[in-house]
Amino acid sequence: MRKFATPVDALPVEKEYAFEVAASNLRFGEGVTREVGMDLKNMKARKVAVFTDPNIAQLPPAKMAIASLEAQIDLPFEVYDRVVAEPTEASWRDAIQWARTHDCSHFLAVGGGSVIDTAKAANLFTVYKEADLFDFVNAPVGKNLPIEKELRPLIAIPTTAGTGSETTGAAIVDITSKSFKTGIANRALKPRLGIVDTLNTRTCSRELHISSGLDVLFHSLESYTAIPYYERTPRPANPILRPAYQGSNPVADIFSLWALRTTVENLPRVAKNQDDHKAMQQMLLASSFAGIGFGNAGVHLCHGISYPISGLNKTGPKYKHSGYAVDHPIIPHGVSVALTGPAVFQFTAPSSPSRHREALAIFRGTTPSDPSINAIPDSEIGSHLYEAIARFLDGLGVPRGLKAVGYTNADIVRLVEGALPQRRVLDLAPGIGDVVGEDGREHLMRIVELSMEY
Ligand SMILES: NC(=O)c1ccc[n+]([C@@H]2O[C@H](COP(=O)([O-])OP(=O)(O)OC[C@H]3O[C@@H](n4cnc5c(N)ncnc54)[C@H](O)[C@@H]3O)[C@@H](O)[C@H]2O)c1
Ligand SMILES: [Fe+2]
Repeated sequence: MRKFATPVDALPVEKEYAFEVAASNLRFGEGVTREVGMDLKNMKARKVAVFTDPNIAQLPPAKMAIASLEAQIDLPFEVYDRVVAEPTEASWRDAIQWARTHDCSHFLAVGGGSVIDTAKAANLFTVYKEADLFDFVNAPVGKNLPIEKELRPLIAIPTTAGTGSETTGAAIVDITSKSFKTGIANRALKPRLGIVDTLNTRTCSRELHISSGLDVLFHSLESYTAIPYYERTPRPANPILRPAYQGSNPVADIFSLWALRTTVENLPRVAKNQDDHKAMQQMLLASSFAGIGFGNAGVHLCHGISYPISGLNKTGPKYKHSGYAVDHPIIPHGVSVALTGPAVFQFTAPSSPSRHREALAIFRGTTPSDPSINAIPDSEIGSHLYEAIARFLDGLGVPRGLKAVGYTNADIVRLVEGALPQRRVLDLAPGIGDVVGEDGREHLMRIVELSMEY
């Protein structure tokens, strides 16, 4: 409150009083990809833009989707298969240019988060033909303009159990010129339908299963511990201005907690045995559930700091994760998020000890009322959770901190500078977003320092 000590004449900033639940329609099932042609026909598509990437184009999910389009009489479609994994400004511009010239009535994305996000952007900038990329990118990096026009219907078929992009209004891009990622987050981008086919992750490498599963883990943990929606300021003057990421709320909580429990149980099983189809199926469900959770509540510190971790890698460490069939350096999104996990939740624990205690109980495979959890004083929950997350990551063979992917102490300041513009997520971080007048720099420094090695 010291920050308010100077008399202020302006009206007090009002806090949020409502939350909204938005998610795509979702269909789950083994082999449901084959229905997509009928869906697009039912939607009276004039011409479909099919988005995928060069790997997936050769694999059953894309082949099945295309066969399903071909099975329809008079359903023209065009395929764009140049999506880049962890898309960049340049790769988005290429896709947008393609979409603008093909003028399709409907969009279909078959792929991981990179494909689905690229299709969202292509759709947006097909409808806003004259707009610049930065018009809709989150402030302060872009202008964050409201999306007032209706976008074309998009169907998303995920092929990774990770991003939950089939159900969210988020699309993430690497702004290469600034060495960090950021995105567009707006309900208008949500796919009309997510077709979640449990056969579609069967061809993922072990490394891809793990890194996309880590994304699910941190979507759930971050959304469950984000500041509550009623602490967010300012209250929007018009509902169109209410952000997609609103802070934790009772509906998102249910989805996030279920996804957290399911991931902690099933991701180690998938890592151990890539023939464990039951566990893979549960991970795919968890990925969409976490998407509903964080798509409404938001994510915070692990994601905010991951954006410069991924972005700076291209000019800095040039780390390339194994198991990724791409021709550029890559710290996969899920790994970049996990690197700060232990330190982040040690930092946020005091903001809501009971929520962090619940998370700790899940990692320990028990409930918060178990005496071994119940007896821990609130002040020590953070250090226990640090250990629990570090142990879980270690069990999956995740690099043990930023040094393990090539960063050094000399990079700390640049990593923090790259995280500070991520206000969309930092404003939801307890201990940062709810502290008036602070940007969180000192805390970020400490978290990055602590994440160097563990
Ligand atoms: N929109 C959102 O809400 C959201 C949320 C989290 C992350 N993201 C973004 O999504 C991107 C990461 O997406 P991702 O983790 O799904 O991976 P990805 O889409 O980047 O794919 C990674 C690699 O795996 C390959 N691949 C994908 N599915 C496969 C399959 N079934 N079999 C074999 N190979 C396959 C791809 O060809 C690619 O080479 C990042 O850019 C991240 O920032 C978006
Ligand atoms: Fe993510």
